Amino acid sequence: MSKNELQNQDRHWSRHAARYDELFLDPYGPDVANPIWEALAAIPDAPNKTVADLGCGTGPLLPYLSERFNRVIALDFAPQMLKCAAERLSPLAAARVTFLERPMHDLDDLAGQLDVAMAINSLVMPDVRLIDRTLRSIRASLRSGGQFLGIVPSIDTISYHLLLLTDQGLQQGLEMKEAKRLAALHTERRYYDFAFGEFHFEGLRQKFWQPFEVEYRLNKAGFASTTLGKVLYPWDESLAGGADLKGFPRSWDWFFLAGT
Ligand SMILES: C[S@@+](CC[C@H](N)C(=O)[O-])C[C@H]1O[C@@H](n2cnc3c(N)ncnc32)[C@H](O)[C@@H]1O
Repeated sequence: MSKNELQNQDRHWSRHAARYDELFLDPYGPDVANPIWEALAAIPDAPNKTVADLGCGTGPLLPYLSERFNRVIALDFAPQMLKCAAERLSPLAAARVTFLERPMHDLDDLAGQLDVAMAINSLVMPDVRLIDRTLRSIRASLRSGGQFLGIVPSIDTISYHLLLLTDQGLQQGLEMKEAKRLAALHTERRYYDFAFGEFHFEGLRQKFWQPFEVEYRLNKAGFASTTLGKVLYPWDESLAGGADLKGFPRSWDWFFLAGT
């Protein structure tokens, strides 16, 4: 990946900082089943540990992390995101947090220092070479026995949503072509490349993941064990046609927990 392309992406992320809550699904909402809480609660001896929130964005996790861990590193390459994140913290919480404005593959100075690394919807660089490089850096930043946990956006859930909306259209008596057309429109299918797992929107280019790719890339980067789980979202107004899909199993993103 060229330096230019990375700089473009940090600019695009910065541009989305102010309207972040309107544009992105919130994995921390009260009706979301998110395995991250249980995984964080299970980390032993957290008050003596260092955690890094890589791609911290507007910092929704920082108040919780700064209460629970001894030291928090909040890293993001988008300055506007870091600005929003800093504004969220009380002076007491801020005293435990170190902000780093840089890309998340740039962790050499933290080698072997982290107990826990987190990447919540931030392993989204469209160039998989950069994803691999980032995962290797994260692996190297962890102490022996350290843990890496995160969430990645799921591409298979977009196919699932498309399937449900197509079936719904057919059940309502639409012709196949029209049912597919409406389902594609409502899921914004035109922004996705399903084969390569990418999402393109207003200059932002984001990787979306299949579960087998999560396991494959974590293994490739040298992580020893990987557990996958689903973050389950309620069928509500944030998802197209959500109100009519309440009877179906919920849509998801992929949660992972990996060891060194
Ligand atoms: C979808 S947001 C998620 C933010 C936050 N983790 C959360 O849970 O709300 C993705 C964030 O990752 C950052 N990001 C994406 N790629 C990055 C990279 N290669 N290096 C550093 N930050 C990155 C973006 O700037 C953005 O703030």
